[in-house]
Amino acid sequence: MKASAPGKIILFGEHAVVYGRPALAVPVNQVQVDVEVLNSSAQGVWIHAPIIDLHAELSTLPPDHPIGSVILKVLSSPFLPPSPSGRGAGGEDGIEIRISSTIPVASGLGSGAAVSVAIICALSSFLNRPLTNEQINELVFETEKLHHGTPSGIDNTVITYNMPVYYIKGKPIETFKPGKPFTIVIGDTGIPAPTKESVGDVRRLWLRDTNRFETLFNEVAQISTMARHFIETGRPELLGELMDHNHELLQQMTVSSPELDALVHAARKAGALGAKLSGGGRGGNMIALVEQARAESVAQALQSAGAKRTIITEIK
Ligand code: PMV
Repeated sequence: MKASAPGKIILFGEHAVVYGRPALAVPVNQVQVDVEVLNSSAQGVWIHAPIIDLHAELSTLPPDHPIGSVILKVLSSPFLPPSPSGRGAGGEDGIEIRISSTIPVASGLGSGAAVSVAIICALSSFLNRPLTNEQINELVFETEKLHHGTPSGIDNTVITYNMPVYYIKGKPIETFKPGKPFTIVIGDTGIPAPTKESVGDVRRLWLRDTNRFETLFNEVAQISTMARHFIETGRPELLGELMDHNHELLQQMTVSSPELDALVHAARKAGALGAKLSGGGRGGNMIALVEQARAESVAQALQSAGAKRTIITEIK
């Protein structure tokens, strides 16, 4: 049984989304996690994830292991209806779970949530106990909370539904459809930056200077709302200025870095219509809005400015 899940990128609204403001995110299908679940002659649940050099039986992993905990969650999920085939955890057959991924870790492309979504989908199909998207989303959110402190839930939502989302924490999911396709170049600083840390730092600053941060988040909220409007009404070229402004606000939240600023600057210099960091910040990725014909040259400029990898993706 196989399942896969895409990467994701946040277009607008990171950090403010943790405080109830809207954010926009889209799937990135150029990178993905693949999971295969097979019967195994060896007893137990065997996990093979060569990319992180993990080859272990589930019960030997600590209960909070990022991959082990997802598998345990699925196997003990109250959502799982009784198995028609009688197959389940602890049956006499062993299970082997093979995980491979092209999504870089801790870079703002949602690798953790994508691993969880793909494992849950593959495992629930293997057990012949299908889950709804809503149930998958909730299970992944539970595991995100274990590892990311106070996540907004945007990563698990965009990856589970594999659609562009306009996300407000705790509200019903809204997807959006661009009136006209547009092109984004993603540039990776190559610096792994745990989201938990930048989210924790922003929280400390917000506690210390609540009024100032609430004002910053309100400005971001306006940007996300306008961005959705421009996207849906087929005027994506107007997003560039909004990206530049959103980046400034993220700088004020202290989540940019010299490397992110350098890539943002290089993209603009190479003709991007606007650019900003994306995700938790401090490292990881930035995005630039480009006219399609300029995508390659902006990607090259990003690489010359130090990007470890670039992805060109069309949002449609
Ligand atoms: O670093 P990423 O791409 O996982 O994004 C984190 C986005 C934040 O808004 C900073 C945190 C969150 O939970 O929404």
